[in-house]
Amino acid sequence: MIAELDCSMSLPLQARRSENLSGNVRVPGDKSISHRAVMLGALAVGETVIEGLLESADVIRTVQAMAALGARVERHQDGSWHVTGCGVGGFAQPEGTIDFGNSGTGVRLAAGLVATTPIRVIFTGDESLSRRPMGRIVEPLVKFGARIDTAPGGTLPMRIIGAADPVPVEYELPVPSAQVKSAVLLAGLNVPGETTVIEPVATRDHTERMLRAFGADIREEMTEKGRRITVRGEKELKACAITVPGDPSSAAFPLAAAVICPGSAVTVENVLLNPTRTGLIETLHEMGAELRILEPRNSGGEIIGNVAAATSSLRGVVVPARRAPSMIDEYPVLAAIAAFAEGTTRMEGLAELRVKESDRLAAVAEGLAACGVTVRAGEDWLEVDGTGGAPVPGGAVVRTHMDHRIAMAFLVLGLNAEAPVRVDDGEMITTSFPQFVPLMCGLGADIEELREEA
Ligand code: S3P
Repeated sequence: MIAELDCSMSLPLQARRSENLSGNVRVPGDKSISHRAVMLGALAVGETVIEGLLESADVIRTVQAMAALGARVERHQDGSWHVTGCGVGGFAQPEGTIDFGNSGTGVRLAAGLVATTPIRVIFTGDESLSRRPMGRIVEPLVKFGARIDTAPGGTLPMRIIGAADPVPVEYELPVPSAQVKSAVLLAGLNVPGETTVIEPVATRDHTERMLRAFGADIREEMTEKGRRITVRGEKELKACAITVPGDPSSAAFPLAAAVICPGSAVTVENVLLNPTRTGLIETLHEMGAELRILEPRNSGGEIIGNVAAATSSLRGVVVPARRAPSMIDEYPVLAAIAAFAEGTTRMEGLAELRVKESDRLAAVAEGLAACGVTVRAGEDWLEVDGTGGAPVPGGAVVRTHMDHRIAMAFLVLGLNAEAPVRVDDGEMITTSFPQFVPLMCGLGADIEELREEA
């Protein structure tokens, strides 16, 4: 199997069985908050100062996109980022196309930002992003008066001609997606009158929180149909100071490793604990994991805390569909953890996993089967039979399909496998967690690059 792989352009990584992981670490800044901080800074009047920005490939694409639209974005020596914005409606006509790389959040939120400003942009992305659906944002954004063309099938490249005389929109989300919600709210900022999004199922609310911090006129109410979020447009945003907390979706990997590796105790400090993001923690508690939240505190409108995890005896559980939005990026690593539980873990409501950086449902099922784990998958569900704590067989090369979270999840699985687990390409890990390999090795994990194959 290893010999069949063409690794000429890739970065294969390998994880071996490891024990006694220990230490206190911090993971890089939250990806969702980082994108939004740069974007709202680019729209605000004055200088927004961002501490703890995630400096990953995805966020750097957003930085470059905002610079192309006329914002000034600078990194200072002390690691802080300074964004001088253009004012609502002040984006300039960019030259050439804007490439968002692997980032769905970047391209979809930026589409909202430009849809109500009379400029013309062409957005592109890498092979993975170019397969992902853009129709979900095109549908609401054309209602504002924007003209949008995509490739056949509603994919990138996408040309947007922003509306010169945008009209306000009321939109009920057909899919539980914070990206779609955010695109509509951001478009609404440059529209006379009120734009409303109704979300039947709560999704991450970083856009709403941050808009409030920038002084936007935004309000929320609970209705029978779900949460109604209304933004009044044409109000200037005021630059502010933002400290980005650690990304819970990145913290999930060292915490998972501590839970499944014998003799381990790891604390991740300064983790974002916004309730729209803590589904994995809830699930791990139900599975019986040794997981504690320490020193929960408030920071810049978000709850943060330290999360301590230790080797655990886990039991399989049913993870209900309604929890999916609060842990949508954590299913690959949960599937890896479930491989060590006593009994079966069933995850429901996973339709959205099919349209992430890869078809994550298929990629997880394929990778687990390759590693000797018993797995069953349906259209929107997954079942994993656990070993009850014993190592999984491993000894496979897992295809990552250009997906950072598939790569990291299977490297974690390999930390308790009889034979090493390889991932065909770890390059994409830089999109969200560039420090993943050194951070994990610092805790005692045996993960290495197989550069000789490159
Ligand atoms: C994100 C929302 C989620 C998530 C993605 C980041 C965001 O996507 O999977 O990694 O920052 O709004 P959807 O909104 O499409 O579910």
